[in-house]
Amino acid sequence: MLGNFSYCNPTKLYFGDDSLNYLNTELPKYGKNVVLIYGGGSIKKNGIYNEVMKLLDENDKNVAEISNVMPNPTVNKLYEGIEIARNHHADLLLAVGGGSVCDYAKAVSVSVNCMEDPWEKYYLRFEEPDCETLPVGCVLTMVGTGSEMNAGAVITNSETKQKIGHVFADEKIMPKFAILNPKYTLTLPHYQMVAGIYDIFNHICEQYFSGEDDNTSDYISEALMRSLLHSSRVANNDPQNYEARSNIMWTATWALNTLISRGKSTDWMVHMIGQSVGAYTNATHGMTLAAVSLPYYRHILPYGLQKFKRFAVNVWDVNPIGKTEEQVAQEGLNAMENWMRELGLVMNLSQLGATEDMLEGIANGTIIMPGGYKVLEHDEIIKILKESLI
Ligand code: NZQ
Ligand code: ZN
Repeated sequence: MLGNFSYCNPTKLYFGDDSLNYLNTELPKYGKNVVLIYGGGSIKKNGIYNEVMKLLDENDKNVAEISNVMPNPTVNKLYEGIEIARNHHADLLLAVGGGSVCDYAKAVSVSVNCMEDPWEKYYLRFEEPDCETLPVGCVLTMVGTGSEMNAGAVITNSETKQKIGHVFADEKIMPKFAILNPKYTLTLPHYQMVAGIYDIFNHICEQYFSGEDDNTSDYISEALMRSLLHSSRVANNDPQNYEARSNIMWTATWALNTLISRGKSTDWMVHMIGQSVGAYTNATHGMTLAAVSLPYYRHILPYGLQKFKRFAVNVWDVNPIGKTEEQVAQEGLNAMENWMRELGLVMNLSQLGATEDMLEGIANGTIIMPGGYKVLEHDEIIKILKESLI
């Protein structure tokens, strides 16, 4: 392990089927005014809204609501939420939902006391907050993003067709606490469940496919991937399996809570391309990643051959005996493709509503990151997008 780093993750987690009760431990730590933030209504259908409201009431909180936070939350919705939180003099932002709702709460947190335009400050200029921020708590209902234990907040500007994530440097932007009850994820539609599973897997890949030194983070990544492969297959056949769903939930948190990127550079190009696809199509995040992944990894394989070979052997149990390095590496990606098809992931961009005439714009909107095995040129992004189309 050759990199230098600091590590601090202050989010307190409560995990398990009784974890919501720990709101009784957390809520008294904050003032009276709580803004409850949620999505389009799933929490009303499955009863989580009533359970949370009851606890807020018992803790004598004065509650305002920001509802209808959409998947891939927009900057216009952010402006609306900032006003609600300001008018309510919020002491705590309580997000109940998936990554979109948790991300949105963090974006409101850094914007309530900010006198500049948050889109320009945080998403175009990537500045850090220089104002007071609000504490965020999360009750997670959809698994995948890791937003419950990281400082990332992705916002979409539908007018300019930009979807941009800011991972804030200051750990105070991470949620103060997160409640992870695997039971809450049992009502997710199959499409969302597998999109989340692929999001987790790709978060690990983005941090694994970089560097050449012997790094403990890579061994942790391999273990997380193996656990995810096992649990995803169990959950795909039996979605109500609590044991598998709880393992998936825990893996998601560790896949993107900064641990496995320590001491490494990271890639993130699948996410950068996927986010630009999302800006044009508003497609489900995990599916945008699934659609572009294989063309991307097959393209960079020659530049990171050793690591792709290791991935094939250690994650997919490919037998290397009597084969060239290239053959072993290709077999690993073929095994990954079979698993993706088994889960029923979307494997091309056309199915997400992308068309040939969008590709230039998607490529232009892709932020190029330097940490992977190959820094992509514009033409390479176009090639990957074309191969991902059908
Ligand atoms: O809005 P409701 O009605 O609640 O429905 C949601 C939504 O339609 C539904 N859902 C959530 N929990 C449910 C449920 N339906 C039934 N039962 C439940 N228990 O699921 C749909 C998707 O929810 P969403 O929050 O959008 O999904 P996800 O968790 O995948 O979040 C996606 C957002 O997170 C960003 C993505 O770009 C995207 O904007 N990401 C955030 C990251 C971070 N903070 O580090 C990293 C990720 O790579 C990602 O970019
Ligand atoms: Zn992701």
